[in-house]
Amino acid sequence: MAPSETQVGIVGAGPAGLMLSHWLHLHGIHSIVLEAKTRQHCEERIRAGVLEQGSVDMLRSAGLASRLDREGMRHEGIEIGLNRERYRIPLAELTGGKAITVYGQHEVIKDLIARRLADGGDLRFECGEVSVHGIEGPRPSIRTVDSSSEDGFLCDFIAGCDGFHGICRPSIPQGALAEYECAFPFAWLGILAEAPPSRDELLYMHHERGFALYSMRSPSLTRLYLQCRPEEDAGLWSDGQIWDELHTRLGCADGWRPTEGRILQKGITGMRGFVVEPMQFGRLFLAGDAAHIVPPTGAKGMNLALADVYVLAQALRSYYHDNSTAQLEQYSAICLRRVWKAQRFSTWMTMLLHRPEGASPFDRRRQLAELDYVTSSRAAAASLAENYVGLAMEF
Ligand code: APR
Ligand code: PHB
Repeated sequence: MAPSETQVGIVGAGPAGLMLSHWLHLHGIHSIVLEAKTRQHCEERIRAGVLEQGSVDMLRSAGLASRLDREGMRHEGIEIGLNRERYRIPLAELTGGKAITVYGQHEVIKDLIARRLADGGDLRFECGEVSVHGIEGPRPSIRTVDSSSEDGFLCDFIAGCDGFHGICRPSIPQGALAEYECAFPFAWLGILAEAPPSRDELLYMHHERGFALYSMRSPSLTRLYLQCRPEEDAGLWSDGQIWDELHTRLGCADGWRPTEGRILQKGITGMRGFVVEPMQFGRLFLAGDAAHIVPPTGAKGMNLALADVYVLAQALRSYYHDNSTAQLEQYSAICLRRVWKAQRFSTWMTMLLHRPEGASPFDRRRQLAELDYVTSSRAAAASLAENYVGLAMEF
C-alpha cells in the first residue's frame, strides 16, 4: 500500500477510532488514524470511567485487557441515595453475574495506543486541521494541512470517529442526516480528588439541593460530581465550597461522607442528548460521539463508542473478506437500536436523580415516587441493572 493510501481512513484517536483500528488490524484490514491533538493530550484527558460487562468482554476478546484485568475495579453493585439513606442495586445478582468495571477512558486510550504501535499501526497525532473529500464517490480522501500529496490519504472508506465537535459530521451535505436533540437544564461540576475511595461502589445521590455522584478512578483517586447550572463557571467554585456542597449532598444518616483530598482537576460537563440518523453518508461512517451524545448519568458514552466500532469492523470484514456490502448497509440501523435504548436509559436516570428547577409540585411528587419504586422493587431494580451493566450486543 502506498504511504498515502489506506483501506480505512480513521479521523480521531478516541476510544472509537483506536478500537476500530485495532479490530481492523485483527481482521487483516489496513487503516490510518489521523488525530488533531498530541498523543499526550489523548492519553491524559480525564473523561468517562465506567465499562459495561460487554465492553470488558470485548476488550478481553481483542487481547487488550491485561492491564484492565489487573487494575480495573470490578463493581457488582451501585448505590442510589435518597433522604440521606443508601439503597444498593445488586447488579450481578440481578443480571446473572454481570458487573461494571471502573477503568478510566484515558487508560483504555493508553492501552490501545501502545498496542497499535506495537502492532506497527499507523497513528498520526498533531494533524491539526483535517478535511474529508469525495465521500459520495468510490475513493474518498482525508487531507491534513501538511499532507505530502495534494490528494491527501486516499481511502476505500472513512470512519468519522472525531467526537461531537469533529469535522466529519459537518462534512455531510445539509439535509442528508436527521438530527435529534434534547437539552437538559443542568450540568455537572466534576472534580478529580487525590483521595482514596472511601466507598467500594458508586453512589448516585438524589438531594433537594441537586444530584451528586460519588465515583472513583483508582485506589488513590476519587471522582465526584455536583449538579449545577449549565452556564456555571467551575473557576468560581473554591475548593472549600465544593467540599462543603459534596458533604451536604452526599453525607448519609449513618455518618458516611466523602473523604477530602487535594483537588487535581475541576470542570463542567454539559448534558445533552443528540443523535444523527443515519450514521452514514456515502463512504463516510460515523461512530461514537461524532454520531451521538448521551447525558452522562447512565455512564454509556464510551460503551456506545466501543459497540459502534465493533459493528463497523464486522461489516468491513464482511466487505473485504466476503465481498458483501449487506452488513455495511445495516451498520446504522444496528447501532441506532442500541443508541436509542441507551438514550432512553440515560435520560431516565438523569430525570430520576436530578433536581429539575421549576418542576411542578406534581412532577416532584411523581419523581419521589419513582425513586421510592426503584429503591424498593426488585423488578424496577432489575431493569435498572440490566441497562446499567449493558444490553446484549446485536448484529
Ligand atoms: N481531526 C482529527 N481529530 C479530531 C478532529 C479533527 N478535526 N476533531 C476531533 N478530533 C479528535 C479529538 O481530539 C479526539 O481525540 O477525535 C477524538 C474523538 O474522541 P472522543 O471525543 O473521545 O470520541 P469517541 O472516540 O467517540 O469516544 C466517545 O468520549 O466524550 C467521551 O463520553 C464520551 O466516553 C465517550 C467517548
Ligand atoms: C465517572 O466516574 O466519571 C462517572 C461514573 C458514572 C457516571 C458518570 C461518570 O454515571
